[in-house]
Amino acid sequence: MTSPRPVDRDSLDDLERELIGRVRGRVLEIGAGEGENFGAFALDVEWIGLEPDADRRVELATRAREWRHDAEPLDAVAEAIPLPDHSVDAVVGTYVLCSVADQAVALAEVRRVLVPGGRVVFVDHVAAPHGTAKRAIQRLATPISKRWCHGCHWDRETEQALVDAGFVGTDVRRFRARSLPFGPVPILMFEGRAPGE
Ligand SMILES: C[S@@+](CC[C@H](N)C(=O)[O-])C[C@H]1O[C@@H](n2cnc3c(N)ncnc32)[C@H](O)[C@@H]1O
Repeated sequence: MTSPRPVDRDSLDDLERELIGRVRGRVLEIGAGEGENFGAFALDVEWIGLEPDADRRVELATRAREWRHDAEPLDAVAEAIPLPDHSVDAVVGTYVLCSVADQAVALAEVRRVLVPGGRVVFVDHVAAPHGTAKRAIQRLATPISKRWCHGCHWDRETEQALVDAGFVGTDVRRFRARSLPFGPVPILMFEGRAPGE
């Protein structure tokens, strides 16, 4: 398989916004941070944010109000989403599946709260191919980034985790983001669906 092409940050941001802009209805954004994605959502989505970091959640709530989203962001982790079964049409997460403590549990929760056939959009940096120097660096860097960068893991097989959780990719794109100091970082953009009834 040929290596995905390297792309710059602006191009990645544009593609990410394109995928996020496709979701409709009642949308849960997990690990919403300080609301960096607000400009990407269609204006008529009913947005629900989830963010466990208290400081970020304060900023998120402020920005949510600016974007006319009334619901207070949820103080919760993706591994225990305080929403009923089948209660949202879509789930979005950017650079959060690298951070959750347990991907399988978080993705099972995402499936639980989604309506059958509901849409997911996930964007994240992922593990480099087995046997590469990049992967070895990612493995070495992960204990440090886990400790100092909001639980971030550099060595996750996120596409496999999504498939294992039962999601079916409808638009799956893989890139290498230009990055310093260790060179391009593999990026996954996954738009998919939960199984239907
Ligand atoms: C790298 S930031 C990404 C923020 C934002 N989504 C973005 O794209 O800029 C990761 C976010 O995930 C949150 N996070 C960490 N662990 C989490 C968990 N278990 N469940 C949900 N969010 C989590 C962090 O607090 C942080 O806001």
